[in-house]
Amino acid sequence: MVRAKEMKDTDFRSDLMQGKTAILLFEKASTRTRVSFETALFHLGAKTIFMTPAESQLGRSEPLKDTARVLSRYNDCMIVRTFGQEKIDELVRYGTIPVVNALTDQGHPCQVMSDLLTIYERTPDLSKVRVAWIGDGNNMANSWIEAAIYFRFELFMAFPQGYEPDKSLLTLALQAGAKIFCTNDPQMAIDGAHYVNTDVWASMGQEAEQKRREKAFAGFMVDEQLMKYAAADAKFMHCLPAHRGEEVSEGVFESPASIVFDQAENRLHMQKAILEWIFS
Ligand code: CP
Repeated sequence: MVRAKEMKDTDFRSDLMQGKTAILLFEKASTRTRVSFETALFHLGAKTIFMTPAESQLGRSEPLKDTARVLSRYNDCMIVRTFGQEKIDELVRYGTIPVVNALTDQGHPCQVMSDLLTIYERTPDLSKVRVAWIGDGNNMANSWIEAAIYFRFELFMAFPQGYEPDKSLLTLALQAGAKIFCTNDPQMAIDGAHYVNTDVWASMGQEAEQKRREKAFAGFMVDEQLMKYAAADAKFMHCLPAHRGEEVSEGVFESPASIVFDQAENRLHMQKAILEWIFS
């Protein structure tokens, strides 16, 4: 966190990764993650190669384990966005270079680290922070749970019934002493929160469930009425892209309380800190 903030404040550049290449293997669409990683790698002197299944032999059924071994012979790290967590695990098992998780259905760790940087800039003592999560128990919710283990903030989460996060992860976090409280009542979860988070109701790959989810998530929109229950100076957070009029109202998204574009900017600084940590 401290290093990422230093890098942000100094507009950090280095030749740490001069002569190295990073392969970005993306099976899902991306704006922020792709561009912030490519820019961060450029700022550290590396060359990037962007690859999707459509334009590689992955799309013609070449096994992932073979791809992992081939890419490891050419590159210095893999940055991967995919569906199941087991795909990343397979790349790690068969590859011989560092693999960075740029989102799976299970988690989005680089996003939550950037989000914590965004909070840290405003409240350096994270243990004094109350975060609310309102919405789907998706990959972002899982990553917030993981973060609560390490950074000791309070995490109040509200999900509709049937849309809870990974139960085994939640159990593990609670056993590790994380301060996490779960409910089906958004009003209860947001009460007194300093930072209010939400995400889309249907993530990438769940588009066919959109209508069913809209029904299930009725009452979970973060709007002006719900924000009244948060702390007086509460900030609104969203990893983006957002669906205005679904999980967040236009008014809250565009309000002075919204720090969503600081979150987006911080992807760049946090990716640089992560890459420096890997390559130092
Ligand atoms: N938040 C996030 O991961 O954005 P992208 O899907 O645009 O990368």
